[in-house]
Amino acid sequence: MPVQQTWNSLPADVHAAVLAQTGAVHRADDIAAGYVSQLATTLHTESGRVFVKGLRHDYTFAWNQQREADIAPHAAPLAPAVRWRIDADGWDLLGFEHLTGRGADYAPDSADLPLVVDALATLGDLRCPDVRTEDAVDRWARHLDDPADGTAFAGPALLHTDLNPANVLIDGAAPARLVDWAYATRGAAWIDPACWIVWLIHSGHPAHQAEQWAAKVPSWSTAPKHSLDLFATALSGYWHTLATEYPNPITQSLRDGAAAWVRLRAEG
Ligand SMILES: Nc1ncnc2c1ncn2[C@@H]1O[C@H](COP(=O)(O)OP(=O)(O)O)[C@@H](O)[C@H]1O
Ligand SMILES: [Mg+2]
Repeated sequence: MPVQQTWNSLPADVHAAVLAQTGAVHRADDIAAGYVSQLATTLHTESGRVFVKGLRHDYTFAWNQQREADIAPHAAPLAPAVRWRIDADGWDLLGFEHLTGRGADYAPDSADLPLVVDALATLGDLRCPDVRTEDAVDRWARHLDDPADGTAFAGPALLHTDLNPANVLIDGAAPARLVDWAYATRGAAWIDPACWIVWLIHSGHPAHQAEQWAAKVPSWSTAPKHSLDLFATALSGYWHTLATEYPNPITQSLRDGAAAWVRLRAEG
């Protein structure tokens, strides 16, 4: 977990470069909710609000910024628009369209669930642009007994894959928006609803009910049954590895959720 910075702690050169884009900054609401960003803040400026994500060039995940900048125009309007990018004093800053929503609630009785289904339906129609992304086969095949089976995960779709509820912003009945595209991946469209299942189980759904929600996303119907079985196994391996590397209550719950989905698939 990186040390979180605040707007006020940034070097004067960085402030000046941002002000050149936005005009005067009246207030900064720093947020610590992010899992990766070194800086995440909403600036209230002379020209309106802007959400700023910043990473230092020397940080392990510095590549995230390029990925997000590359993807955003292709994932509009699900993804917030990128207004500007600044390179100053070792910092790489992206200024995004500010979204007013809150993180989604995935609980079993949540009214957000149909909005998430709609967002995943929109996402399922997007083709992966010709920019550098992750690849579904590279990411998940290694967790299979026979990695050659991972070709089942290949496809032309643009996938988000990080459906942690803080990345899905809900604003009343408006369409849900997806932020945080650092793990954008090329693969089969049904993979996003499949990734969602684990978060639903983590949020209190029994596995069969979580899968029923995922199945409402149209791309789900394009998934061969055997490919879903394989993906459940691969996703379980992925979360198992993550929970071992970063043991905490969330990764461990997601690991257990993925294992519950594998057991459901095994029941047929
Ligand atoms: N464009 C935006 N407008 C308003 N809030 C945003 C925007 N993008 C992200 N956020 C908020 O900031 C949080 C952190 O941003 P995110 O892109 O998810 O970074 P991280 O990689 O740190 O998780 C999100 O969970 C969301 O609450
Ligand atoms: Mg995030």
